[in-house]
Amino acid sequence: FDDIRPKIEQHIREVKDFPKKGINFRDIMPLFTNPQLVNELCVVIADHVRHTVGHVDSVAGLEARGFLFGPQVAIQLGVPFVPIRKKGKLPGATIEAAYIKEYGEDRVEIQQGSIKTGDTVFLIDDLLATGGTLRAASDLVVKAGGKVGEAFVIIELAPLNGRAKLPDIKLTSLISYDSA
Ligand code: PRP
Ligand code: MG
Repeated sequence: FDDIRPKIEQHIREVKDFPKKGINFRDIMPLFTNPQLVNELCVVIADHVRHTVGHVDSVAGLEARGFLFGPQVAIQLGVPFVPIRKKGKLPGATIEAAYIKEYGEDRVEIQQGSIKTGDTVFLIDDLLATGGTLRAASDLVVKAGGKVGEAFVIIELAPLNGRAKLPDIKLTSLISYDSA
């Protein structure tokens, strides 16, 4: 990742006091003004998966910003993309897992059958903060009978210690910030 990291860093915008006072928002959207770099990143992530995890049965991405990367990585790997969505968005039978947000509890879901028993799943999201979202996603994969080959985020906000919630899974971040 050493070649691509500085290029991605240049495309992350820091927005102070968003969405509320005191929060230093790391905006990944400027990256999408550079489609070539987005493609390069997704190719590099897919190569990383081949070298570290080996075979994966699917790539699962988290609504909404995980959807910006997951399908592209899945295409590179030639495997299905599994959308993990906030509760109530996916039609048909679903499996759900709960997680704690700042105010109360939230739930994420996958469609039944999208992950099969014994599947190895590569999880991807844009950012790791408190780790609640990836914790729920990982629980969901296991509930469906699969296992997490690796979880990957573009940005890790290290001081929020999300990693501590995920001791059982291999977690890789492209860029880690020492200040939240
Ligand atoms: C953000 C981010 C991660 C999650 C990380 O998503 O995209 O998914 O928070 O936070 P955590 O580690 O504390 O759980 P958010 O739910 O704000 O919405 P979005 O992706 O739909 O924009
Ligand atoms: Mg998100």
